[in-house]
Amino acid sequence: MIDSCWLIVGGAGYIGAHVVQSLLGSGRRVIVLDDLSTGIAARLPPEVQLLHGSATDPAVVVEALRSTRPTGVMHLAAKKSPTESVSDPLTYARENVVGVINLLEAVRASGVARVVFSSSCAVYGSPDAERVDESAAMLPVNPYGESKLYAERLLESAAAAYQLGAISLRYFNVVGAAAPALADTGSSNLVPLVFSALRACSPPRVFGADYPTPDGTCIRDYVDVEDVADAHVRAAEVLERHTVNATYNVGRGEGASVLQVLDAVRAVTGLDFGHQVLPRRPGDPARIVGQVDRIARELGWSARRTLADMVASAWAADSAHHPQLVGVRPAGHDPS
Ligand code: WQD
Repeated sequence: MIDSCWLIVGGAGYIGAHVVQSLLGSGRRVIVLDDLSTGIAARLPPEVQLLHGSATDPAVVVEALRSTRPTGVMHLAAKKSPTESVSDPLTYARENVVGVINLLEAVRASGVARVVFSSSCAVYGSPDAERVDESAAMLPVNPYGESKLYAERLLESAAAAYQLGAISLRYFNVVGAAAPALADTGSSNLVPLVFSALRACSPPRVFGADYPTPDGTCIRDYVDVEDVADAHVRAAEVLERHTVNATYNVGRGEGASVLQVLDAVRAVTGLDFGHQVLPRRPGDPARIVGQVDRIARELGWSARRTLADMVASAWAADSAHHPQLVGVRPAGHDPS
């Protein structure tokens, strides 16, 4: 057992619960603070103490740090829909920025000196590059990305001012599930939406097939949630030994198009299905793929699981939630 205990803010969420599992697996102790607005308490093992509360309440965060005295804090609590952030920017500012301000003030007051922050490739906006590295221009195109960028910069400044160890992890497109209970249930992301369409016997939707990409559909850097969780263990290991102030892309460094993801779903599920092409979704970059050399070099982390692995684990988890519909053959084929 490693003598360290991490407070995971948002630890009952989809990614948070995987981070909890990986930290426990590394021999560390974990305590979770979560408002359960989207988090699910049942995702957590019984030995994990769950503090029910929101990071948007300063008193809650101060009390959580005072009562737990953690080795460090990992802040994953956030709202994460780029589309929703456009229609509700103030909620995104309150949840994703005020929550971080409260955390940093509590960290400073409590003497906790290590922070890992859940950031996003959304800070890059629509890059015009084969791969984006951490020094790329950050031009977010929605309030979600702006909130993550601002929170990153606050953490970086606070770390410098108050001698904190701080690591921001910029997740790319996270897919998969270590177990059914950890599935991404509330997601508006591609893979869960494809599964929902298949279970409704309707062809999955493809938002735009006229992008300047090889098959005309958007390219993303899909990365397995368990690999993402393991990156947090590496960040904890480094911060427990060194005071660093750094930011890392967390992806596979490989792109896959929407149509390639659909092919992976066909291969994993054995289902024969078409798709329907809809107009482009506003704000979607044609391609965003991470340059992931820095995290490999400095944290000794790289993604191990493939696109097929993550689609398979996501399908297994989704099927466990919908046992009656496994193997459904949706009617109809690609009309386009
Ligand atoms: C992926 C691609 C869609 C649904 C995500 C997260 C964000 C951040 C970055 C962590 C796009 C297309 C989607 C569908 C489709 N990650 N699509 N049909 O927008 O890249 O952002 O990763 O912070 O939190 O939201 O992910 O899964 O919504 O879309 O064609 O039914 O799939 O247009 O090109 P996105 P996504």
